[in-house]
Amino acid sequence: MKILSAKWVITCDEDFSIIKDGAIVFTDKILDIDTLENIQIKYPNKEIIQSKDNTVLMPGLINSHVHLEFSANSTTLKYGNFMAWLNSVISNRDTLIEKATPKLISTKLDRMKKTGTTTIGAISSYSFDMQACINSPINTVFFCEVIGSKADMADTLFADFKNRLESAKKNSSKNFMPAVAIHSAYSVHPFLVRESLALAKEQNLPVSTHFLESPEEFEWLHKDEGLFTEFFRNFLGQSKAVTKPMEFLNQFSNVKNLSFTHCVEASDNDLEKIKLLGASINHCVTSNRVLNNTKLDLKRLNGIDFTIGTDGLSSNNSLSMFDELRNALMMHTDENIIEFSKTLLKAATINGSKAMGLNKGKLQKDADADIISITLADEVVDKDDLAMQIILHTKSVEKTIIGGEFV
Ligand code: BEZ
Ligand code: FE2
Repeated sequence: MKILSAKWVITCDEDFSIIKDGAIVFTDKILDIDTLENIQIKYPNKEIIQSKDNTVLMPGLINSHVHLEFSANSTTLKYGNFMAWLNSVISNRDTLIEKATPKLISTKLDRMKKTGTTTIGAISSYSFDMQACINSPINTVFFCEVIGSKADMADTLFADFKNRLESAKKNSSKNFMPAVAIHSAYSVHPFLVRESLALAKEQNLPVSTHFLESPEEFEWLHKDEGLFTEFFRNFLGQSKAVTKPMEFLNQFSNVKNLSFTHCVEASDNDLEKIKLLGASINHCVTSNRVLNNTKLDLKRLNGIDFTIGTDGLSSNNSLSMFDELRNALMMHTDENIIEFSKTLLKAATINGSKAMGLNKGKLQKDADADIISITLADEVVDKDDLAMQIILHTKSVEKTIIGGEFV
């Protein structure tokens, strides 16, 4: 049993409660959380690990959507337009994947840990990132991805997906959890969607999918028109989308832990359906910005929870959640900076946890002990400013605790 105290403890519960001069008692789970004074009374004679001045304890950050297999990209891919980006991904994919060795991915995971991430939703296309995730202390929900819109390839692609999922399942542990990703409505044949979802439901695995990321995707899925037309004709010999957005969404009923990434072009009906499905939206604001896609209109979510994802280095210059949170804070200029900072910290903790069916993202009795400590340069006078000051000033964390261990 360990006890850690600090000037501030942010619980990330529904009310965003903050304890001044607080302490946390934990093993691999949180046993107790209270003011330091009360903890000293309840646990006399126990050693208490004190933090530096102006330190904040909060739940470890949850990056709900990242593609580690694209970690070798920095300046290669084309940004500024979704089609130009997609074409550049297809032409550079093999070289980038080859450069993303387990060693490189491990370095990136280590950096993510130092910048406060304790859990990731890793979208894996090939399982080339699996060993690095297993070796890392970071908790990984490992989303084995299915992709392929051509009917004649569906059986082969499904067999490959099942093999990757089986191998992920063999490695499953307390901090490595297999899951299912369906690439998108435009790139996955309905047969593959149906079969992979049947598997996910049967085995109660979390599911995630990209959905309506670009105007081009909207035009293609709704009207079989726009810039996707040329892409599908040239690469896949197709003149029509394999599904309509609502038909696609309808297939996801009864998935317990479900998330849709981007959704920036989703209609009100789509959002209503996503809400009915009890799903979350993975918000990747930097990725949307660099590809010149639309910014997610948070005012339209109408009670749908959103989470924070960096997406991969294929569409971001950083995998740090604090960089991502700063970008979100700066991009959503219509939100009040003080209140929105609290919303963002909840999105990056408890909402990510709920989206993936975890018992994390909150400092609460019986939750997993995934905790970060952040030391601010000076005193925060008004407790109400704490979330904002943390987002504005944190580059790296002081301590990272995952499953009760200092890592
Ligand atoms: C496919 O494999 O069918 C596909 C991949 C990427 C984009 C679109 C389609
Ligand atoms: Fe993505």
